[in-house]
Amino acid sequence: MKALIIGCNGLLGQNLLRTRPGPAWDLVGTGLEKAPALPESLSGYRSVDVSKRPELEAAIAAFAPDWIFNAAAVTDVDLCERDPALAGLINRDAVGWMAAAGIPMAHISSDYVFDGEAGPYLEDAPTRPLSVYGATKLESEKLALAHSPRSIIARTMTLWGRGKGSKTSFVDFVRDSLKAGKPVRIVTDQWGNPTLAEDLALGIWKLVEGGHTGTYHVAGSEWNSRHQWAEAIADHYGLDRGLIQSCLTADLKQTARRPLKSGLRTDKLAAATGFKPRDVGDQIRRMDEISPTSI
Ligand SMILES: NC(=O)c1ccc[n+]([C@@H]2O[C@H](COP(=O)([O-])OP(=O)(O)OC[C@H]3O[C@@H](n4cnc5c(N)ncnc54)[C@H](OP(=O)(O)O)[C@@H]3O)[C@@H](O)[C@H]2O)c1
Repeated sequence: MKALIIGCNGLLGQNLLRTRPGPAWDLVGTGLEKAPALPESLSGYRSVDVSKRPELEAAIAAFAPDWIFNAAAVTDVDLCERDPALAGLINRDAVGWMAAAGIPMAHISSDYVFDGEAGPYLEDAPTRPLSVYGATKLESEKLALAHSPRSIIARTMTLWGRGKGSKTSFVDFVRDSLKAGKPVRIVTDQWGNPTLAEDLALGIWKLVEGGHTGTYHVAGSEWNSRHQWAEAIADHYGLDRGLIQSCLTADLKQTARRPLKSGLRTDKLAAATGFKPRDVGDQIRRMDEISPTSI
């Protein structure tokens, strides 16, 4: 089986490559960069800007994959709010162009499809995005499922991990700040499930290999506030919790609205695959084991 990983240089993209279930899967990839971050994991690579439809379609035709995994997106939610045209092009329209090839797709969506009034959510809970990012992700779900009955949507949230060229994770930011004796201001009113990118990748592979279809939540098994997450990080590394100051989301004056009481329940994933993503402590232990610092 050949899988095309679109966005293979991003955090999830790199984790999809690293967690390939076995040699039966031949992986090819595309990314914005001239060269791939993990060349050893790929049998082919093309530089593709997914906002350029002919470029995208030419790559899909050239690789002729059995599956398309889409890990490319504009993930900066404030940028999406400021530039809805860009968000629409990459997070929605490009997904429609990929899906139109009629090849089964594994596409990634977000808890931002919900309004954050009643989380943690099951898959069939009513959606009501508060932001441009969330709206484009919701629209992309419909497009990704429209052309192949075998496609899956994996909704995830507060993804973290370490990858070549990836931005500093929340865990590393908190650890490094506290180690340096610097106070950090962390919101107490945003709730959700911190998710290790490796677990998202493992969950996606299990859904694909198991022949499951439709929408699944793939997120960490612990539900907490961002502030509690920071405290767990401090405790894990034996650092001073007293440096973690509290604030509210409204104090940050961010451009895009955030779902506050969010979170994703993974009962459906567990029932389908038996897979249980890690809790916060096991996530940090896993990253410390395979990559003690930022790559
Ligand atoms: N991060 C989160 O907390 C979070 C939460 C919920 C859902 N998700 C979803 O999970 C998926 C993976 O996210 P991630 O955290 O792995 O994001 P990421 O590390 O930012 O990876 C996204 C990749 O998409 C690429 N990309 C952006 N614009 C592109 C374009 N025009 N053409 C081709 N590639 C382009 C980026 O390239 P450059 O880096 O070179 O720009 C990057 O490699 C996304 O669908 C995201 O929406 C993420």
